[in-house]
Amino acid sequence: MTRTREHWGSRIGFILAAAGSAVGLGNIWKYPYMAGQHGGAAFTLIYLICIFVVGLPILLAEFAMGRRTQLNPVGAFRTLSGNKTWKWVGFLGVSAAFIILSFYSVIGGWTIKYTFLALLGAFGDFTPGSDVSARMYDAFINKPFEPALWHLLFMALCILIIARGVKSGIERWSKILMPLLLVILVVLVIRGITLEGSMEGIRFLFQPKWGDLGASGVVAALGHAFFTISLGMGAMITYGSYLQPDSDLLKSGLAIILLDTAIALLAGIAIFTAVFAFGENPAEGEGLIFVVLPTLFPQIPGGSIFGILFFFLLFVAALTSAVSILEVVTAYFIDEKGWNRSRTTFLFGGIIASIGVLASLSLSGYNILSPLGDLTFFGLLDTVSYKYMLPVGGFLTAVFVVVRWGVPQFIEELISGTSLSRAPVPVVTTFFVVAGLVVAYILLSEVWVVVKSWFV
Ligand code: PFF
Repeated sequence: MTRTREHWGSRIGFILAAAGSAVGLGNIWKYPYMAGQHGGAAFTLIYLICIFVVGLPILLAEFAMGRRTQLNPVGAFRTLSGNKTWKWVGFLGVSAAFIILSFYSVIGGWTIKYTFLALLGAFGDFTPGSDVSARMYDAFINKPFEPALWHLLFMALCILIIARGVKSGIERWSKILMPLLLVILVVLVIRGITLEGSMEGIRFLFQPKWGDLGASGVVAALGHAFFTISLGMGAMITYGSYLQPDSDLLKSGLAIILLDTAIALLAGIAIFTAVFAFGENPAEGEGLIFVVLPTLFPQIPGGSIFGILFFFLLFVAALTSAVSILEVVTAYFIDEKGWNRSRTTFLFGGIIASIGVLASLSLSGYNILSPLGDLTFFGLLDTVSYKYMLPVGGFLTAVFVVVRWGVPQFIEELISGTSLSRAPVPVVTTFFVVAGLVVAYILLSEVWVVVKSWFV
């Protein structure tokens, strides 16, 4: 059976869709709370180094593999390697997609709840220094069913978009609203840095205190670099597979990485200036933005409108990322098993939504892992995927390009359709080798720390 593969409607459509995948909760929710827990600036610096040294080559590799094969991650690895062993890297990616979406959609649900709270004017009388915002957040997440219902709503929207297909679904959403998100963040940054005591927050974010960063913080920064640009699990292979051969992958890759980094840093500045000016705790954890930002909005003229727009745009950013995760799973079953798009999407979206309910419940005290200690089911899904699965997937992708697919073939695909001249093979090989070594070194140091802790 031959099927015509759907393609992006325009070049800018692809860039926006891939940027829509990259920019999401990772930038605005996860980066600030992880930086807050791992020493601020030291974490930020390692994360930035990883983005450019490790992230860029692997992003380009994923785009090139997708566009070359016009296939999902499993199919791409299988076709380019010519054997069955490498397709397991693709499977690792599809499994990571399952795991990530089941906790990602829980926070996606929170963004819908907070958009409604903002619409109802719930933050109007929040004052800096009081704990009303924290109490509202605690009351919400401690309820077992309400957050789970918002999560299901978020998943339902995600399923509906993916069931409609790549172009009409994903691309249209991503084309709107991204510039607005940037504007809102800039306004929040301006308000943040003009608060009294805000410079403390800037120092926290940009003046490294290395002592605060343990081995685990370094792996977290590496894993986050993968997470934030949607790397290591084939999302960018999948999006690359909907490309026609005329786009400039290098330019698109750079634009996406720069935009993603800019949004994370703006979110970080807006949040930490407020955290320090209001005397909040930077290591608050998953609730950081939901506790801090509602206190910042009333400090801005027209703040209630900004509050509504902010949480709504955060929800949209989360949705455009979530759909890229679900698309990895869907594309695999369509390409490899010949399944029909809507059946696949409803079935696997439904399974992911059910696992997500368990993740959501685990944050409100109904934790299926409680017999094992403090770790929540949500925390397990989060940690296993971003800290280990994505870096391992990315590492294997770099190894794959060098030892199996071939750097000359990669270069040929990278420049096809552009006027770029052919980069020397040894130079490009060095980029991949360095990226692979950085990931291997960081992962092995973490393993070493864990193994050592068993013996002492
Ligand atoms: N990059 C997204 C974010 O920063 O929110 C999350 C993500 C999307 C991770 C797609 C992985 C992925 F394949």
